[in-house]
This record gives sequence, structure tokens and C-alpha cells, in this order.
Amino acid sequence: TQLKAWRAAIVHCIADPKDVGTEAAYEYFEDGILVVDGDKIHALGDANTLLPNLPDSLQIEHHPNAILTPGLIDTHIHYPQTDMIGSYGEQLLTWLNTYTFPEEAKFSDKDHARDVAERFLAELLRNGTTTALVFGTVHKVSVDAFFEASQVHNLRMICGKVMMDRNAPDYLTDTPETSYQESKQLIEKWHNKGRLHYAITPRFAPTSSDQQLALAGKLLSEYDDVYLHTHLSENKDECAWVQELFPNSKHYLDVYDQNQLLSERSVFAHGIHLCDHEYQRLSETGSAISFCPTSNLFIGSGLFKLSKAEQHNVNVGLGTDVGGGTSFSMLQTMNEAYKVIQLQNENLNPIKSLYLSTLGGAKALRLEDKIGNLAVGSEADFILLDKQATPLLSSRLALSKNIEESLFVLMTIGDDRAVQATYSAGQCVHRR
Ligand code: GUN
Ligand code: FE
Repeated sequence: TQLKAWRAAIVHCIADPKDVGTEAAYEYFEDGILVVDGDKIHALGDANTLLPNLPDSLQIEHHPNAILTPGLIDTHIHYPQTDMIGSYGEQLLTWLNTYTFPEEAKFSDKDHARDVAERFLAELLRNGTTTALVFGTVHKVSVDAFFEASQVHNLRMICGKVMMDRNAPDYLTDTPETSYQESKQLIEKWHNKGRLHYAITPRFAPTSSDQQLALAGKLLSEYDDVYLHTHLSENKDECAWVQELFPNSKHYLDVYDQNQLLSERSVFAHGIHLCDHEYQRLSETGSAISFCPTSNLFIGSGLFKLSKAEQHNVNVGLGTDVGGGTSFSMLQTMNEAYKVIQLQNENLNPIKSLYLSTLGGAKALRLEDKIGNLAVGSEADFILLDKQATPLLSSRLALSKNIEESLFVLMTIGDDRAVQATYSAGQCVHRR
């Protein structure tokens, strides 16, 4: 076998802090060793305990100034919006028409899609993100290009073709029938191929007819483990429009519910303006919400109510939502998440933030038996965070009293510069 080992401070989550309390939710090894066998985690523990049991020939990479932690999981992002990040001055519906739709039109060209997909993945990896749930565009080739680029690095990635048959420019719409057929072809081609998975991806209720949503539900029912990925209740004008377009729905989520789109593998981005019954249905069906703080602030959508989702036992992951979001960095996304919760007079502690970005994200995606922490047998997706990446990190972290404070500082002032290396399935896929 092919054993490799890393020695550093190691921290990972083993449970949701809301279920077991903060202390019991994580393991920390101040001087730890992670042993990897090929693409899987073979052992994890204190250096003192593990070292005597390791073969003398084993090469150990020692990083005394680093924190080793699981690869970060972004539960909602749009790869075709990479080059429109930071588009000025609009809220959701005008932002879509002004910036997003013209940008997404470019993805009918496979060469363009390939170029953006490669730069997008490089950006994820330099930020320590090893798994993401990703929107393509309406074009089938956009998804081929994305999965082909993901395969090169052997990444665990989920993507899907946008289904959109109304309220968008003609150059960017499909039909219920073509969207069903093309999505099905992409599922057959890519789903569960290596580490890749498919997500059925109606953009959001306003851009799909009832007929298209019904076919999305039919497609979802035809497979055991395909994902459903869409947007939900992000912006007040959007919510009012959904009520006009679907007068027979009890509320926004009910549009999806009536079409059998709620499932254990359904992920809804945003979920800001929800009523109790919507939280209840999300919970009953095992659906998840992706909390996207940088986007919710930048597009002016509102403040996500994490405590409400927790009270109703709804699975939550964290998402960047680039290009509505303003950073590829999950560290910066945790920074903004903290502020969103602060504005509601609550606290988001750093272990909870780490959980949402790792094991919680994995649970939202039903991948917790494969990724999300450093449990023996898990896939070896992990990152090294450099405590001396910048002068400010060095001086601030030198004063930190414990790992929780260090993590909090890293997620408050850290970004891609703090990510020293990223590993996917045991292989180095980024190094600074
Ligand atoms: N709702 C429908 N489409 C989009 C999108 O591309 N980005 C965001 N943030 N919300 C959406
Ligand atoms: Fe989005």
C-alpha cells in the first residue's frame, strides 16, 4: 500500500454542535498525525501515540505552523458566473437580466465553458474548497465541460444543466421536453462516474413552467440518488412574483413540493423569507438549505435565520453563491456568516462555522460517509492552513489562547492566502 503522513495541528468536526454542544462536536490534536493510504484516510491521532506504530520508512511531512482540517464544501455556486463577480448596483431580478443572462449565453460555446471551468476549479482549490454543488447554464455542453475539468483533479463535484423555459431571453431557454431529455442524458453520462454526481437544476420557480417542474419531479423519481438543486425565497420581489405566477401554491416552497421536488437530496439556496410551514416541510422531507451570506448581503436579499432552521431541524450548509456572492473563499464566507448572525443579535461560534463548511455541508449533500471530516475510511480531502500566511495572521495568532480562537481569527481575516495546500483523494491539487 501507499502510505503517506502529515504532521500538524489537526482539527475536524465529528458532530453538529447543536446536538452535542461545542466541546463534543470536534476533535483537536495539537500535535497530530494524519496517515493516508492511497485516496483514503488510514489513521488520525496524537503524534506521541501514533509515531511508535508507524513504519520507519514512512515519510512524514511536518508542518509545525499549519492547521490541517478537512477540505471545505461549498453547497451553492455558479461556475458560469465566475467572470461577473462584483457586478454593481442591482437586486436579484434586475441583476439576473442585466448581468447574469448575457454572461450565461456565452456557455453555448464549449471552448469558452472549458476555459471558465478550469479557472473556476483553480479558484476553488486555491481557496481550499474540494467539493461543491454547482450550477451550469441551460447548455448541455456547459455541464460536459465542467465534469471533464473536474475529472482531471479527481474532485468530488456535483453539477447540473439549468432548466429554464420562461421569463428569460429566448437565447437562454429550453422547453420542458428538451430539458428533461438533456438532463437525463447528462445523468446517464456523468452521475456516479468516479467522484461526480448529477443535480437536476431548475433555476428557480419563476423561470420554469408547471410542466417543466413536473418533468423535473418525474426525472428525480426515476433515480435513487440524483440531486435536486434550485433557489428558494431569496428576495422579496421574487417571492411576490412566485405568488402571482403560481396562485395555487400555499407558499414559495409549495411550488416545488407540489411537483415532488423535495427530497433527502434536494438543496435549496438561500431560504431567507420562509414561513414555519416551509421550514417544517424542508425538515420532514430531509431537504437542505444553502446559506449564502456574501450573496445575501451583496444582492441585498436579507438575513438568513440560522436559528429558525435549527429549531426545525433543517439541514444547513454554507455556500458562496459566486457570482451573486463576492468571494470564492469559504473562510471569507464564514466571516460574513458571522456578521449576518450578529445583525440578528445571535452568535455563530467558530466550531459551528467549521461544521457548516465541512461535515454539515457533507450531511446536507448526503456525502458524510465519504467526505466532511477526517474519520478513518473517509476520502483524503483536506487542507493545510498556514498560521503565518500574512504578517497580521502571524501576530494575531501568536496571541490566540486555543484552537477555537485560532479558527475564528483564520475565518475572520483569512482568505486564499491562508490556504497553504489542498489535497483531493490524497493528491496535492494546490500548493502556494
Ligand atoms: N435566482 C435565480 N437565479 C439566480 C442566480 O443565478 N443567482 C442567485 N443568487 N439567485 C438566483
Ligand atoms: Fe445562486
